[in-house]
Order: sequence, then C-alpha cells, then structure tokens
Amino acid sequence: MAELIDGKNVAEDVVRRVKALTAELLGKGALKPGLAVVIVGEDPASQVYVASKSRTAKECGFHSVQHTLPAETSEQELLDIIGELNADPAINGILVQLPLPSHIDAGKIIQTIAPQKDVDGFHFINVGKLGTGELETAFVPCTPAGSMLLIERVRGKDLSGLNAVVVGRSNIVGKPMANLLLAANCTVTIAHSRTKDLAALARTADILVAAVGRPEMVRGDWVKSGATVIDVGINRIAAPEKGEGKTRLVGDVAYAEAATMAGAITPVPGGVGPMTIAMLMANTLASAYLAAG
Ligand code: GUN
Repeated sequence: MAELIDGKNVAEDVVRRVKALTAELLGKGALKPGLAVVIVGEDPASQVYVASKSRTAKECGFHSVQHTLPAETSEQELLDIIGELNADPAINGILVQLPLPSHIDAGKIIQTIAPQKDVDGFHFINVGKLGTGELETAFVPCTPAGSMLLIERVRGKDLSGLNAVVVGRSNIVGKPMANLLLAANCTVTIAHSRTKDLAALARTADILVAAVGRPEMVRGDWVKSGATVIDVGINRIAAPEKGEGKTRLVGDVAYAEAATMAGAITPVPGGVGPMTIAMLMANTLASAYLAAG
C-alpha cells in the first residue's frame, strides 16, 4: 500500500516556521506582516476558506484584515478597496477570494493588485516570473507551491528526469504546477478534457497531479506502480451510506484504488488542502521581508 502524504502535518510545520520567523522579524522592530483577505458575496465554501485564512494569519502573529463585501458590490468599489490596500504600508499581502460575482471582471481585479503584494501569484508579473524560471522573486500560487513541498517530502529535492503528468490546465493550479515541475527538471505533460487516452498517458507518470474538479476521475489502473499521486480536487458528493441527505468530501482520484498502486498519495481531506493556506502565510511573510528590505 502507498505511503500516505500527511499534508495537515506538513502544513502545521510550515505555519510553525512562519510563526517563529514572524516573531524574529518583530524582534528586529519591523512591521508585523499584514494580510488582507477580500471576499465578495456569500458562497459558503469561499466563506469557510476565507475564515480559515484569516484565522491562520492571526495564529502566525500577522496583522490580519478581512473585507467581507455584499454580492452586489460594484467593480469600482472593489477596485477602490484594492487601491487602498495597495497603498497601505501595514498590508504586505492582498488576496481576493475567487470566484467573484459575474458582474465583476476577475481578471481586471487581479491585475490591479500590486505585484509585490500579490501573494496568490496570479498577477501577470508573477505568472511571467514563474514561466521564465525567476523563482527567487516570484510569488508562486499557493496550491501548486504546497503540492511541490509535498512531492519533495517523498521524492527529495532532485526530481530531475522524472515524468510528471498534470491533469488540468487552470491558471490557479494546472499551469503553475506544470511550470514548477518543469523548473525542477521533470519532463512535464499537461493533460486536459481534450487529451486522447488520458489513462495511458497517466500511466507514464512518476508524478501524477490531478486538478480537474471531477470526483474520483483518476482510477487505480491509471496509476503507475510506485508513482507519487497528488490529489488537488476537493469535491462534495452525496453519501447515502451515511444517511439521507448526507455528503462527503472526495478528491479527483479514486483514493482506495489508487493507493494500491501508488508509492505515495495525498488523502482528501488532509492532503493538499491544508498546504494552500500554509503557503499563503509563507508568501505573506516573504512579502513582509521584501518590504522590510
Ligand atoms: N479560490 C479557490 N482557490 C483560490 C486561491 O488559491 N486563491 C484565491 N484567491 N481564490 C481561490
């Protein structure tokens, strides 16, 4: 059976380290790292994520600000708030939770965030730095950055020459994940909904990353023996076995099947999910260090 990759544990390690470094920074008389999280509307999943981000920021000893805006907030109102946060020296990181209501142009909002405060790593400047291998000064999107840490925990830092298949081509996960694996000298293939014979392609992967948002799509016979499987999906599905109307969380990978083939695999929940928030804290701390010179 596969080794279970305990993302919760690794994330707690990261948060502990961020907390210690924050205390050290404050000891030098620098400003507290400041994180502003902005949420528009009432999407329940987004509310849970945002509350968790704000709570973890406080736990790290950060200055933590949350803007909770009604769904009818105009694009201009949101742009004005971002303008204020861009200009506020107490804020090092700005995160606008996605998705945004459809009357707001999410792309325009993201590109308005100052690149040096873009702790999500979604601004073109940071996307470009990652794409050109300028990893020293880029903010890397939190979910792929966290996934890389988990991969390095099981395979070590040298991933050179390994075959990596990333299933999913989103700007938030698939594309930055592929760029990180490429920067680590993997041979990378990005698969998507039009890919032919996905199962056969997946079976070539030493590192298989699933980020498509389709419950249990990756089956056990898609997994090469000994592969490292990273499941980015978080899908809520009906669980009639738990009682009427009950639900449960599953990933994009059929865990029980895949675990019989994989060398190591992330569970859902408790795998990649906790890493996303931990890496947001790490990015915010890095931003505060840069601002402090
Ligand atoms: N919605 C889902 N994932 C993310 C993320 O990583 N950042 C933001 N801002 N919104 C999200």
